[in-house]
Amino acid sequence: MENNTPIPATQALHFGAHAASKNRMYFSSLGMDLCDEYGFPRPEFFAVYQSLMDGGCGFGFLGNASVDADARYNSRGLKLTSPAHAQALRPLFQAAQERDFLLGVQLQHYGPQAMPSDQGIILSPSGIASASILNTFPQARAVAMSEEQILRCIDQFSAAARQAQQAGAPLIQIQASNGYLVSSFLSPKTNRREDDWGGSPIKRARLLLSIVEGIRKATGNKVAITVRLGIDDGLGEEGQHAGLLGDVVVALEVSGVSAITCSVGISETFRFFFKNKEKAQAMSREGCRYLKSFVQIPVGFTGSVADVAEANEIIGCGDADFVGFGRAMLADNHFIAKELAGRKDLVTRCKGDAFCFRDKKEPMATRVYCCVNPDYRRPEKLQQYYEENLK
Ligand SMILES: Cc1cc2nc3c(=O)[nH]c(=O)nc-3n(C[C@H](O)[C@H](O)[C@H](O)COP(=O)(O)O)c2cc1C
Repeated sequence: MENNTPIPATQALHFGAHAASKNRMYFSSLGMDLCDEYGFPRPEFFAVYQSLMDGGCGFGFLGNASVDADARYNSRGLKLTSPAHAQALRPLFQAAQERDFLLGVQLQHYGPQAMPSDQGIILSPSGIASASILNTFPQARAVAMSEEQILRCIDQFSAAARQAQQAGAPLIQIQASNGYLVSSFLSPKTNRREDDWGGSPIKRARLLLSIVEGIRKATGNKVAITVRLGIDDGLGEEGQHAGLLGDVVVALEVSGVSAITCSVGISETFRFFFKNKEKAQAMSREGCRYLKSFVQIPVGFTGSVADVAEANEIIGCGDADFVGFGRAMLADNHFIAKELAGRKDLVTRCKGDAFCFRDKKEPMATRVYCCVNPDYRRPEKLQQYYEENLK
């Protein structure tokens, strides 16, 4: 007889044979910008992630570990480009193990959304830089990557995955969303190549699939690989959308990926998605459900989910196998534990202004802050500046 009982968000989730989470809620990759200029974590970095791990999720990811020592989003991001970086992260993975928490690390190449290199160059599939980068750095020059540069990038992901494994990470997330390098290869809007790295959805996915293969070899198949997949960039029919990605998720499953986390938006459309919560969530749910129908591996998403009740509803109706939280988690690292203990009244809720995301590029900010979390509340002057200038 068929069992139609809805799956609750508190049910365990397996990532292939290698890793399991005690429930289906995760803290999404959040680059908190708490590293020094060489990409080493400062003490506050450990404090935030330890607090997040104690907050009731079953799994979560360290955000934005750059695989390329020279490609940066700002000067405070994490890097995973040497044994010393791996060594620095070891205590965090030990802490995760002690807590029975499944902690992963996101591997990132910023590509067309990176700050230009010292030579003013930005790497991209077809020489198209992000409009927001060109606004800030009008002299920047986006180059269409050569075969040699592409192969080097694949090696960088493999090397970073090896470092992640050395650090003790049981789980890796490849950042293939939000307009960064891998997602710019996947998009028909930014990948106009006519060689084997472009031309059809599956050829545009060759970089991602090669990265997966490289990581599997580099880690001896001992680390679970997940992909954060950009399923809609918000640019309509000529941009990326879920309808183009059926074959790609099948290929990812065949290549050994153990879960897919969906995401929407790129730098030009983040503001739209942050401001239009219902639209963002509807697009994520619809796209996630559609892509889930192609594969057996778990598929989930992060985007505008506010609480455990919403997570239960989304998972229970089959739109996603698991659900992530970004800003809700920043506002209150422990909101899931509080809700599961029946103490909703103690939760500090996100106000949804997305100023935290603005902190990443604001020269006056020295880290990511929050306007409600007392552990890292935004300085009043900066908060006021945002309120007056970013309405
Ligand atoms: C301050 C901040 C930092 C973020 N850093 C990352 C990151 O490092 N990597 C990533 O893939 N997404 C990052 N994101 C996006 C989140 O993971 C998440 O997808 C997004 O906030 C939407 O989810 P939400 O509506 O639950 O906040 C960041 C978002 C914010 C607000």
